[in-house]
Amino acid sequence: MSKNITGFSKKTKEEKINWLITKYFAGNNEAKNTLKSYWNTNKKLQNLHDEFIENTVSNFYLPLGVAPNFIINQKEYTLPMVTEESSVVAASSKAAKYWGLRGGFKTTIIGQEKIGQVHFMYSGVPEKIHSFFKSIESQFYKDISEINKNMAARGGGITSIELIDKTQELKDYYQLHACFNTVDSMGANFINSCLEEFAKTLAREAAIHESLKEEDPIEIIMSILSNYVPNCLVRAEVSCSIEDLEAEEGLSKREFAEKFVRAVEIARIEPHRAVTHNKGIMNGIDALVLATGNDFRAVEAGVHAYASKSGQYRGLSKASIKGSQFYFLIEIPLAVGTVGGLTNLHPLVKWSMQLLGRPNASELMEIIAVAGLAQNFGALRSLVTSGIQKGHMKMHLFNILNQLNANSIEKEAAVEYFKTTPVSFSAVNKFLKNSNV
Ligand code: MEV
Repeated sequence: MSKNITGFSKKTKEEKINWLITKYFAGNNEAKNTLKSYWNTNKKLQNLHDEFIENTVSNFYLPLGVAPNFIINQKEYTLPMVTEESSVVAASSKAAKYWGLRGGFKTTIIGQEKIGQVHFMYSGVPEKIHSFFKSIESQFYKDISEINKNMAARGGGITSIELIDKTQELKDYYQLHACFNTVDSMGANFINSCLEEFAKTLAREAAIHESLKEEDPIEIIMSILSNYVPNCLVRAEVSCSIEDLEAEEGLSKREFAEKFVRAVEIARIEPHRAVTHNKGIMNGIDALVLATGNDFRAVEAGVHAYASKSGQYRGLSKASIKGSQFYFLIEIPLAVGTVGGLTNLHPLVKWSMQLLGRPNASELMEIIAVAGLAQNFGALRSLVTSGIQKGHMKMHLFNILNQLNANSIEKEAAVEYFKTTPVSFSAVNKFLKNSNV
C-alpha cells in the first residue's frame, strides 16, 4: 500500500490524521488519541497554533520554566526558559543567585548591524561593473523607499550597500552586500524584501546601461539575508574579587578560579571541547530564544559561525585573573527581535515578554547573552569540581521515575533517598522494587 499522496495539505486536519493513522499506525486509535490529547480545548487558541505552520496535527509541548534572581545591569529579572533538558533551569537559577550576591551581570551592546546579500554572476570587464554600480547606487535606495519607510520612521533601515568582487574565489561571482538596522524586529522579512528589490534594480538598470548593454547579462542567483551577524554583538560579563568566590569541594577560592580559567582556555584552543563548551552556552541561550518566540536556528547558525571566525572553532567565553580579581565574559552575536513574528501572536511568548518587562531588542540581546554566560558558569563550576553527573542525574531522577511509572509517594521517597546515593537507571529501578511505599 503506497504512502505517496497528492493534495495532502488541502485535506482537513481530521482527514490528515485519519490518513496518517491508516497508513502508519495500522488504524490504531491509541495513536489518534495521543495526538488529540495534546489539542487545546480552547478552539481559538488551537486554531492559532494550527495556522503557525502547514499540516499541523497536534501541539508538541516543551516545558516553560523560570529562573529567578538574575541581576542584570542592577535590574532584577526572572528569565523564562523553554527547554527539555532537566538541569538547565536549575543551573541558571543557581548561577543567578551566585552572581546576584557578587554584583550581578553587566552587559554592553557592541553593535546591531544585520546583513543581506544579492548574489549574482557577471562575466564582463570588472571596471565596467564597478563604475556601473557607482552610477546607480542611489537608485537602490530610491527603489526601496516604500519598503524602508516604516523602518526609517522607527530609526532604522538600510545603512549601506556595497558591490563586492568575489571572482578570485568563484569565477564571475559578485555580490551586493547590504547592511541594515532593523531596530526592534529581527528583520528577516524586511531585509529579504529590500534585497529582492535590489536584485530587480540591478537587472533592470544593467539591461539599459550604456557600457553594460554589450556585455553578457548579469545573472541574479539569489537574494537573502545572512545569519552570520558578527556586528550584531553583545557582551555579558561578571567579575569579583577572588576573595568573594566560594571555596569549592576541596579547592581554595584561588584554586577554583585558576582551574576555572584553565577550563575556559582549553575550550578556546581545543575544538572538541569548544563545541561542548558552546553547547552548554546554547543551553541557556536557546531556552530564552524559544521562550521569546525568536528563531533559534538563526541564532545557532550565527553563533557557531562566530565561534569559527579565527579560522578555528573556539569556545565563546573568556576568563582571566588579574591580580586579585576574577573576570568571566562572553561576546556573542544575537539577531533577535521583540516585535513582529511570533512575538505578537503566541500567548506564551507575550507572557514571557511581560515577565521580562517588555524589553526592546537590545535589552533582549543583553538578557539572552547573560543566560548563556550563566549557563556556562554553572557547567564549568560543576565540571571543575564535583563533575557534571552529580547535578545532572539529580535533575534526571524525575525522568527516570516517570519512565518507571513511579507514583507521587514513591517519587517523594526517591528524592529523599537519592540525596545521598548516586542516581542511575538501575539504582532507581532497584530502589522502587525494594521500597515498601
Ligand atoms: C550539557 O548539556 C552541557 C555541558 O556538556 C556543557 C559543558 O560541558 O560545558 C555540561
